[in-house]
Amino acid sequence: MSVLDILCHPLWAVSTALLAIVVRLQRRVVWDPKACAVRLTGKTAIVTGANTGIGKFIALDFARRGARVILACRSESRGTAALNEIRQITGNADVHLRLVDLSSMDSVREFAKKILEEEKALHILVNNAGVSGLPKQITKDGFEASFATNHLGPFLLTNLLLDLIKRSAPARIVTVSSVNHKRGQVDFSHFHGENLVYFMDQVYNHTKLHNVICTNELARRLQETGVTANSVHPGVVMTEVMRHYPAWIRYLFNLVGFFFFKTSEEGAVSPIYCAVAEELEGVTGKYFDSDCSLVLPAPLARDAALAVKDFEICERLTSKL
Ligand SMILES: *[C@@H]1O[C@H](CO)[C@@H](O)[C@H](O)[C@H]1NC(C)=O
Repeated sequence: MSVLDILCHPLWAVSTALLAIVVRLQRRVVWDPKACAVRLTGKTAIVTGANTGIGKFIALDFARRGARVILACRSESRGTAALNEIRQITGNADVHLRLVDLSSMDSVREFAKKILEEEKALHILVNNAGVSGLPKQITKDGFEASFATNHLGPFLLTNLLLDLIKRSAPARIVTVSSVNHKRGQVDFSHFHGENLVYFMDQVYNHTKLHNVICTNELARRLQETGVTANSVHPGVVMTEVMRHYPAWIRYLFNLVGFFFFKTSEEGAVSPIYCAVAEELEGVTGKYFDSDCSLVLPAPLARDAALAVKDFEICERLTSKL
């Protein structure tokens, strides 16, 4: 038998398929949102990127629990479709759509202004929206587009809504980061699109690291306010976060994903856990894994001095815009 014969042996295909099926079956969810009886009646929640993927399932869960839910979406048509679907499934009519483009600081300010005018309280903010694989692009604010969408936009949004959130305490801020943050680095020139390599999700990884760092610093600043801020890894999920990649990459991703990755509904579990679980009351400045376990984030995300600096720089960058 030649090496090629051995490599091409059907046993490989069969055993790989079996392995994949075993992995698929083993994938279990540790915390079950449907078994959690927490009600959110009288509470208001905002979920960004709620028109699709994880965000839609998070919003759906909050609506089921009786919350007033605001879907913060960029696309009016896709947002409206999600709105109607969530209202129909849950029978909760107190679900609303507000438009925001997180890559534009003007749009974030306009959105926040509207929320501050319309809402009397805000108990849950889930910063879920994110993009991956965007080509190099500088926004009109002068920011690199992935950084603007994944970090600076949500950062500004959170800060603009902070007084309302504090007045509504106990309240929770949940930032959907990713295990990818462990591969990220901090270089403040990245915010303006300098020194970046657009390869293998590197830009995404950096943005997700800033998410965890600034969430930790926010938690420190919010001590004794009754407002908690945590970040969470949803798992490797098949979502539209991939929509900017070429079709063949998405195809491969979906094929592999069918066996190994989570569905959006499963990916929503750990963010929902952070937002509603009773045992997390008062827990803040932490990072949760996709199975809802409390784990340590990357060393860079635990550097308190770096967090102070990052937060201040992001504040300065977003304050004038
Ligand atoms: C980004 O993170 C993912 C997940 O950890 C990793 O597979 C990928 O290689 C990282 N990209 C870079 C350039 O480090």
